[in-house]
Parts: sequence; C-alpha cells; structure tokens
Amino acid sequence: MRIGILTGGGDCPGLNAVIRAVVRSAVANGDEVVGFRDGWRGVLDDDVVSLDLAAVRGLLPRGGTVLGTSRTNPYAIEGGPGRLVATLERQRIEALVPVGGEDTLGVAAKLAADGLRVVGVPKTIDNDLDGTDYTFGFDTAVGVAMEAIDRLHTTGDSHHRTLVVEVMGRHAGWIALHAGMAGGATVVLLPERPFDVEAVVGHCLHRFESGYSPIVVVSEGARPADGALVTASGQTDAFGHVRLGGIGASLAALLEERTGREARAVVLGHVQRGGTPSAFDRVLATRFGLAAVAAVREGRSGVMVALRGTDVVLVPIAEATARLKLVPLERYAESEVFFG
Ligand code: F6P
Repeated sequence: MRIGILTGGGDCPGLNAVIRAVVRSAVANGDEVVGFRDGWRGVLDDDVVSLDLAAVRGLLPRGGTVLGTSRTNPYAIEGGPGRLVATLERQRIEALVPVGGEDTLGVAAKLAADGLRVVGVPKTIDNDLDGTDYTFGFDTAVGVAMEAIDRLHTTGDSHHRTLVVEVMGRHAGWIALHAGMAGGATVVLLPERPFDVEAVVGHCLHRFESGYSPIVVVSEGARPADGALVTASGQTDAFGHVRLGGIGASLAALLEERTGREARAVVLGHVQRGGTPSAFDRVLATRFGLAAVAAVREGRSGVMVALRGTDVVLVPIAEATARLKLVPLERYAESEVFFG
C-alpha cells in the first residue's frame, strides 16, 4: 500500500517523531510512504519526497518538521480540491495521514467526506483540539514557558518590577494555565475569561507587599473585559486567523502606570514551538504515528487518533474539529487560588 503523509499549520515539537513512527511501522509491514512537502501545498503542487528508513533515521529528537509546513487552504483556492484528488491519484496514494490542527484536519474531514481514505493525527502546541486529552507539542511548549517563568522570578525580584510573560494561545489558554501553575505565576490571564484590569493591579500590588515581584502570564488571545483584543497587525492567514501579539506590552505599560512600579514584557513567541520535544511528546507522537498506520491497515477513514486517559483511540475527525477545546472555568478556578 502507498501511504501519503503531510504536516500542516504551525510546526510543533514531535512532528518528526510522528513521521518516523509512520514510516517505521509502514515499512515493517511492506508498505511505502510518500511525504508531501509543506502541508496541503505539496499535495496541490504534487511536491513529494519518498520516505524510507534512511530518511527517518535520527528524527526522533529533532524539532520542527522535515517535510516542511504551511497554512495553505486548498478550499480557498480556485480548483484546489480537484488538484488534491488529481495528485493523490497520480501518486497512487491509497491512504493519507495529515498531521495538523483544526485547519489541516478540517481539510482532511472534507476529503474523507468526499470518499478519500484519510486518518488524521492531531498536533498543536495550543492543546485546543477537541476529541483528544492532549496534543503533542503542548508539553514541550509548557516546559519552555515554565523555565522562562522560573528565570524571570529572580530578575523580577532583584529589580522590584513586574514581568508580564506573553505566551501562545489564540483561543485557548492551556499553555498559560499550565505554565502559570507550574511556574508559580502571580496572575494567569486566558482568552476564555476576559480579565478585570483592577483585579490584576490588585494582585500585583499584593505581591509587591510580600517583598516579591509579580509575574503575570498572559495568553496572546487574552483581552480586558472592557477593551478590544490587542493584535499586532490586521493580517489574517488563509484560514482567516488574525495574527496576534501585543497584549503583553500593552498590559505591562498599563501595570507600570497603575502600580507605580516598573514593568517589562517578555514575548516567548516561537521559542515555544522550536527545538527538541519533551519525553512525553516524543512518546505521544510515536504512539499517534503507530495508531494512524494501524487504522489505515484496518481500512478506517474519516477518523483521527486521539489520547483518552492513557489509551490511544480513534474518533471521527469531523467531531474533533467541530469545536475547540477551551479551558473549563473550574480549571481556571484552581489557578486563581494562587493569585496575588
Ligand atoms: O496555532 C498554533 C500557534 O502557535 C498559535 O498559538 C499562534 O497564534 C500561531 O500558531 C502563530 O502562528 P504563526 O507561526 O503563523 O505566527
């Protein structure tokens, strides 16, 4: 059997571990694997690379994706879906394994509905895909953010200033929630819960009173209850997402003014997405890759591999991409116990 694989959307630690697991497992079964370069762009343009055992040697710890990625949306391109089908026929692909988040898997769901055999693998550092308890990449991103917060505590305390740490998280604040809890943040601000500026100022002043300096962890998609979302630019990608960034700097300026203490903003940005995956992410990505090939062999389609508890299961792609998995308010309430 010829299996096609692609990685789409923002890159994420663990993508190469999935590619390796798919190839290792497929080749052991006598199957062939073809990689498409740069996500759906590679399928549109018939840009392929043959993946054998030699091609995946050494990939397990490597960050990013050797296949490249893009945010290409074939359904936003005239004749796009037809070009996808033509390439898959030309390449004699019997099953496709797209590895991606809501956008990449949204395209996968449409292709499966049109009769192509598709088994999706969920990835995003944001951990906001529904249908799976965790996506790989998230644990690594939280580890990077936690280490940054640990380091910022000591410099903030030395200078008696507020440090605002802006982390990724467009619609869901999972990275902020976990990194803030792991790093002992003074306040954590999420997109799911518009924040009250007065309350944040109060928590910061309280922290200064204790002789220590506040660390405010804010998701890029968070916004004040009485204000608009802060965006770095009005630009949108092919799936219509606005490019975010800037809330950290605005908040730091506001806190400096309102607390009377110096404040600085640190934007972790793509540092959270780069580099080697954590052990958890390597194992999860590997298990997802193995499960995807097993599902292909069983003739399954329109499904996505997912983690439920400690088990890897299959769920309908359409169900997993219907809505985002947001931070429940009770999880936020757990972090609030430590505010101030
Ligand atoms: O979707 C994952 C993500 O890392 C988001 O958290 C973030 O908003 C976005 O990608 C950044 O995208 P880009 O790499 O295109 O700037």
